[in-house]
Amino acid sequence: MISLPHPYREDFARQWLHEAQREAAAGTAFRFAVTPNRGTEFLGAAELRALDREHQQAELSFWIAVPLWGCGYATEAGRRLLEFAFSDLRINRVYAHHMRRNPASGRVLGKLGMTREGLLRERVKKWGRFEDVVLMALLYRDWAHANG
Ligand SMILES: CC(C)(COP(=O)(O)OP(=O)(O)OC[C@H]1O[C@@H](n2cnc3c(N)ncnc32)[C@H](O)[C@@H]1OP(=O)(O)O)[C@@H](O)C(=O)NCCC(=O)NCCS
Repeated sequence: MISLPHPYREDFARQWLHEAQREAAAGTAFRFAVTPNRGTEFLGAAELRALDREHQQAELSFWIAVPLWGCGYATEAGRRLLEFAFSDLRINRVYAHHMRRNPASGRVLGKLGMTREGLLRERVKKWGRFEDVVLMALLYRDWAHANG
């Protein structure tokens, strides 16, 4: 979530929602709110972006509000999004990036069945510091095998 500004202002949220509508209409990205099974409390967000129809690829990313970390929400939201990608959108490869110094993200992606494909050294600059980024991915055939 390197692109999220900090501090996060209300106009950023409005812009994000506006872009979500535009991208969903164009079929280039699908952004979802993460909410409890019952209720409308906003827990975080999960999205499939960079949809590439030619190569049937998309990027998965998510974030959960800090006080709710460790409750399994990212894993549950990620599972639902993979189902949407593979079953509804017929994507063949879903990939995700996480910063190497953020092992919780890597753990979530691993729990989703993703395999580490590589390390992109100093791929991004976050708050003035170059960061290594891990690339992970899951193929449709592996997801289908694991999900019956
Ligand atoms: C990464 C993030 C989404 C995880 O959300 P979450 O709802 O807490 O995730 P879950 O509860 O589903 O799973 C977290 C897992 O990471 C593990 N974990 C937490 N801190 C860890 C650490 N420092 N090292 C290794 N594993 C860690 C937890 O133990 C848990 O695994 P387990 O179920 O095997 O015990 C959340 O920390 C976040 O929003 N981070 C900022 C944004 C981000 O990094 N997004 C991912 C980019 S793709």
